[in-house]
Amino acid sequence: MGLHVVAITGASGAVYGVRLIEVLRSSGHDVRLIISREGAINLELECAMTPELLSEKYGCELENNENLAAKSASGSAAIDSVVVCPASGTTISKIATGISDNLTTRSAIVALKERRTLILVPREAPYATIHLENMTKISQWGGVVIPASPGFYNKPESIDDLIDFVVARILDQLGIENNLTARWTGEEIESNE
Ligand SMILES: Cc1cc2nc3c(=O)[nH]c(=O)nc-3n(C[C@H](O)[C@H](O)[C@H](O)COP(=O)(O)O)c2cc1C
Repeated sequence: MGLHVVAITGASGAVYGVRLIEVLRSSGHDVRLIISREGAINLELECAMTPELLSEKYGCELENNENLAAKSASGSAAIDSVVVCPASGTTISKIATGISDNLTTRSAIVALKERRTLILVPREAPYATIHLENMTKISQWGGVVIPASPGFYNKPESIDDLIDFVVARILDQLGIENNLTARWTGEEIESNE
């Protein structure tokens, strides 16, 4: 089982991070949780939860985003992945320019330098060109960008289904088996032949 850093930053969509943590913990993975100031605002607004409640509920270590001496900040720590979910345009821009001024950006840049899995889940609409440029850079360096935009081909019936669609894509990238969503079989569309 792995050790994953999950950072909830100040973009809308804290619920994606919450569900990711729930699935990681229920499948036996350890999570170190980082929540930025605006991440906490959105967590309260959208999920009626505090960082402390979230970490208690799922039994994960809550790190202080201002603490650059934390375990996740070090390249020598045995960390499997860093997932910024949701990822604000601000955090993405800092990562793209090498600014490690808090534990989230430091952990993400450490993941890049150590060639570990880094996943960003941006939520912005529309994207500014600077967002696109920053995401292109990080993608070229091996980071994975998974937009918080669920698909509809598997006929979602609830908001939970939409959330799980995005979380399943994250788990797939982490190499974690999951059945959160029905997978495309190739037989969904009747052939015209
Ligand atoms: C209520 C609220 C909603 C926000 N929604 C978004 C969003 O969806 N996407 C985004 O990139 N930034 C959003 N922001 C702006 C970020 O929170 C802001 O850029 C902040 O500096 C991000 O800092 P952080 O990355 O350290 O969390 C929102 C801010 C607030 C207060």
